[in-house]
Amino acid sequence: MTLLVTGGAGFIGSNFVLDWLGGSDEPVVNLDALTYAGNRQNLASLDGDPRHIFVQGDICDRDLIDRLLLAHRPRAIVHFAAESHVDRSIHGPGAFMQTNVNGTFTLLEAARGYWGALDGDEKAAFRFHHVSTDEVYGSLGPTDAPFTETHAYEPNSPYSASKAASDHLVRAWHHTYGLPVVTTNCSNNYGPFHFPEKLIPLIIVNALAGKPLPVYGDGQQVRDWLYVKDHCSAIREVLARGRLGETYNIGGWNEKPNIDIVTTVCALLDEFQPDAAGPYARLISYVKDRPGHDRRYAIDARKIERELGWRPAETFDTGIRKTVRWYLDNQPWVHNVLTGGYRDWVTQQYGAEQGT
Ligand code: NAD
Ligand code: TYD
Repeated sequence: MTLLVTGGAGFIGSNFVLDWLGGSDEPVVNLDALTYAGNRQNLASLDGDPRHIFVQGDICDRDLIDRLLLAHRPRAIVHFAAESHVDRSIHGPGAFMQTNVNGTFTLLEAARGYWGALDGDEKAAFRFHHVSTDEVYGSLGPTDAPFTETHAYEPNSPYSASKAASDHLVRAWHHTYGLPVVTTNCSNNYGPFHFPEKLIPLIIVNALAGKPLPVYGDGQQVRDWLYVKDHCSAIREVLARGRLGETYNIGGWNEKPNIDIVTTVCALLDEFQPDAAGPYARLISYVKDRPGHDRRYAIDARKIERELGWRPAETFDTGIRKTVRWYLDNQPWVHNVLTGGYRDWVTQQYGAEQGT
């Protein structure tokens, strides 16, 4: 038995692979293009582990995917690979359409061909697990009920529109071709290996460098935050026992305005590593708002709890403490990301020959 994971060198994917191999001997084939967001160093603890087969490649490369499916015969595909940053999608939407839409289409077609040729138990057991976001549902007003799985799709950014498109493709491949799919729509994650272009790691990294902490607009936008390892455990449950063709919302029951996130991170840094110049919150700087900025996301995660018994293990207080501590304890990782050194690391560590 083997899993094919896409995007397993990114933030959530690498946490998932580490978590999976921490609790199971089932091998993982990890297909990742190593874009700016992919960091092979996240997986350094698996060096030499025969259960982890890393392949540098693009999910838009049909031949490569066909070869991987035939060679490794996975019993499931867990699809994380995506362009994931809203601000980047505003500046350059093309890569989002290519990877998130065309890439998912390519993967679905390859999966359909592979699954169609399986029989018996292998065919019945196969799963295509599509990892998606709550951002496909659009923006909530302050008193609106949280997103359920039946909420209308109302994406507002190029990122969320591309993820919505990919969700629709996955749904259609199930309804039309019978491909055994499950989709999860999760809220904002945080935790180890989070690339410091996203709010929480950016605030930690900038604060430690004495740089301004940029808060968009009035800082009152609300997100629901989930510790990344809880997302991984939810995916494991849905992969194991989720009903075919269903979508499951995953969230932390942790709605917070951005400014509260920033002040909480500052307070933890004051506690763990006080700055002689004064409290880190002095660095907060309100900046121009993101165009089309969604005001509020909130997840109703009762379906996954009711059907699969999943609830997050971390509260925001416990998860954010671990996260800030992780960044303080992993300064070489941060340094490599900030200097771009993580991109040379593959060649240094594995030589020019690594890859497929
Ligand atoms: P990330 O940007 O940290 O990682 C994405 C990974 O995909 C990188 O390793 C990158 O190299 C790889 N990749 C990009 N294009 C590729 C391509 N064409 N072929 C192969 N690999 C490619 O993203 P993340 O935050 O880990 O998100 C993973 C998934 O979870 C995404 O699908 C995202 O939409 C979804 N999601 C993220 C969040 C969040 O808060 N970060 C929340 C809900 C859902
Ligand atoms: P982000 O981490 O980019 O995730 P997403 O846009 O997918 O929710 O942003 C989280 C929230 O923080 C979002 O409302 C935008 C805001 N934000 C800032 O205020 N300042 C920043 O520098 C960044 C990156 C985000």
